[in-house]
Amino acid sequence: MKIQNIDLGEHPLMLAPMEDVTDQAFRMLCKEFGASMVYSEFVSADALIRNVNRSLEKIRVDDHERPVAIQIYGRDVPSMVEAARMVESEAHPDLLDLNFGCPVKKVAGKGAGSGMLRTPQLMLDITRAVVQAVRIPVTVKTRLGWDVPTMMNAQTFLPDAPADRPYILELAERLQDCGIAALTIHGRTRSQMYQGQADWTLIGAVKHNPRIHIPIIGNGDITTAEQCQHAFQQYGVDAVMIGRATFGQPWLFRDIRTYLDTGHHDDTLTLDWKFQVLRRQIQQSVAYSLRADNALKEHKRTELGGIIHVRRHLANSPLFKGIPNFRETRIRILRAETQEELFRLLDEAYQRIAAG
Ligand SMILES: Cc1cc2nc3c(=O)[nH]c(=O)nc-3n(C[C@H](O)[C@H](O)[C@H](O)COP(=O)(O)O)c2cc1C
Repeated sequence: MKIQNIDLGEHPLMLAPMEDVTDQAFRMLCKEFGASMVYSEFVSADALIRNVNRSLEKIRVDDHERPVAIQIYGRDVPSMVEAARMVESEAHPDLLDLNFGCPVKKVAGKGAGSGMLRTPQLMLDITRAVVQAVRIPVTVKTRLGWDVPTMMNAQTFLPDAPADRPYILELAERLQDCGIAALTIHGRTRSQMYQGQADWTLIGAVKHNPRIHIPIIGNGDITTAEQCQHAFQQYGVDAVMIGRATFGQPWLFRDIRTYLDTGHHDDTLTLDWKFQVLRRQIQQSVAYSLRADNALKEHKRTELGGIIHVRRHLANSPLFKGIPNFRETRIRILRAETQEELFRLLDEAYQRIAAG
């Protein structure tokens, strides 16, 4: 599968953009373990333009993580165009993704992210203007609609749409007409936030629309290799994007890739090896945080910055599922402030699993 001239091979697996999760250290590991493309956390167009250090840091990419996408969000044409140009000229990502799906109030409530689902004309104006402003491919990530009734009726927000047409079918065509290179659809509405189950049937309907020729990336609730294979086979998507299931197990991509290629799970991924990966993730997270401090000549974050980023991953690792009374250890992980503390807690967890 190709997004313009970016060749992602057969059955590409994407690491979803996730705020406070998909930092560079994590992206590098996911890439190493088989993610076909990785996405940055979303970055505010306004903050980028104001040169907010934390946002500048978020758009830094390493050649080892390529192909890599930077995702931005915002609520008007001029700031999105300016931020897009800045990302292209300063970060040189392989593609630029526009976030029209974030449901959280501080974003959607101001009309950005999924708030754009209520103002599709503005969404299309932004998309068209950004596509024209940069040379790299521009893609969009969005949801099925604002809420369930409006999801089934495009006319609510697009009065000139045909009657009784699901919103995402109409929107996908119009986004494609703006010149985007691929579209990612998370199979939920904004009002669903992260509740209920992602509905892949509408994602499949977009993919099977004969007018659609850009790649369609399906997203929502994929946690296993079997589900991923089903998504490719049943809904015909060009790529699958995985988010929450990667928490604390960046090796998930390797297992899914092996399964898609051979029909078997990867049984070389031993417990020892997985714990080593988590230790490496801690070290890399701290190393990136320190490096970012040096680059920005700002010595506020130090080791703690990296620890804060990584401890949430560790606390959610499926490795610890089933360890009796693990809750207290999980809380200690979430409160840890140094590498040594986290290493000790990992050793403790390892001993408890090994002891059966
Ligand atoms: C902690 C967290 C942060 C997220 N941040 C972003 C983001 O910055 N940009 C974005 O497009 N989606 C974001 N999402 C949504 C995910 O990219 C994805 O669409 C959603 O989690 C559904 O996929 P999943 O079921 O595989 O997790 C975030 C989700 C979570 C859980």
